[in-house]
Amino acid sequence: MSYFPFLSNDQVRFFHDNGYLVIKKIIAAEICFELRKRALEIGNSLRTDWDKAQFSTQNQTQHSNAYFLESGDKVRVFMEEGTQPPENIHHINKIGHALHDVDPVFEAFSHQEKWDRIARDLSFKQPGLLQSMYIFKQPRIGGAVNIHQDACFLYTDPITVVGFWFALEDTDLENGCLWALPGGHKAPLRKRFLREGLETRFEELDAQPMPATGYIPLPVPAGSLVLLHGLLPHYSEINRSDRSREAYALHIIDQQAYYPANNWLQRAESLPIRGF
Ligand code: FE2
Repeated sequence: MSYFPFLSNDQVRFFHDNGYLVIKKIIAAEICFELRKRALEIGNSLRTDWDKAQFSTQNQTQHSNAYFLESGDKVRVFMEEGTQPPENIHHINKIGHALHDVDPVFEAFSHQEKWDRIARDLSFKQPGLLQSMYIFKQPRIGGAVNIHQDACFLYTDPITVVGFWFALEDTDLENGCLWALPGGHKAPLRKRFLREGLETRFEELDAQPMPATGYIPLPVPAGSLVLLHGLLPHYSEINRSDRSREAYALHIIDQQAYYPANNWLQRAESLPIRGF
């Protein structure tokens, strides 16, 4: 299938060399506003779920519960770890994991031809929208996310996952911008996050530790897109500011790759993975 490239050769080369690519201000301010407004509406509409799940950004194996494991093809709300009832809207950590399929506003934003062109520029043959997350990174309490590789959670064979991380607000050192290890995607996947029945666990694949140094901050203005290779070690710090750092992350896999039945994220047959 022919298509018009979106990225320049230099941008594609930069991504393959470094494992990430920043494209500043690719989304209009009005769209950022619309997505933020919609996320707030969804968060409020899921009020009855607020007491169901606290999200630990530090210890993912705490998610050995049906509420989390069933969220792969639903829109569910996860609260900030350590918050106490009564929960309020400012305690929401994130909403996931199928906004791109279930919510009309996020569906329209996610399924765009330009994202498809970017995916194909990065060598995808049959891009599939596997997962979406709306991340609030709330003022003062938005938790840190430890160093990880996205392919740990969204594994395919061969590894194909790429994160499309959209900053909907300005991100900086104070409000918990992304940090990434340039070139770190050239090292192997260290572990996989598996489901076993109603439990989850990590399986070690490679014993070499994740580098502890060499990371650079990726502060970006609102409306920017950060592309993240699935093997790239990255993290974010706690939000120390009194500003939120809202972001929408879409994870794409190649549908031609093998998707294991013991990946934590499973979708109902009635809602199969789709392309852009
Ligand atoms: Fe990530």
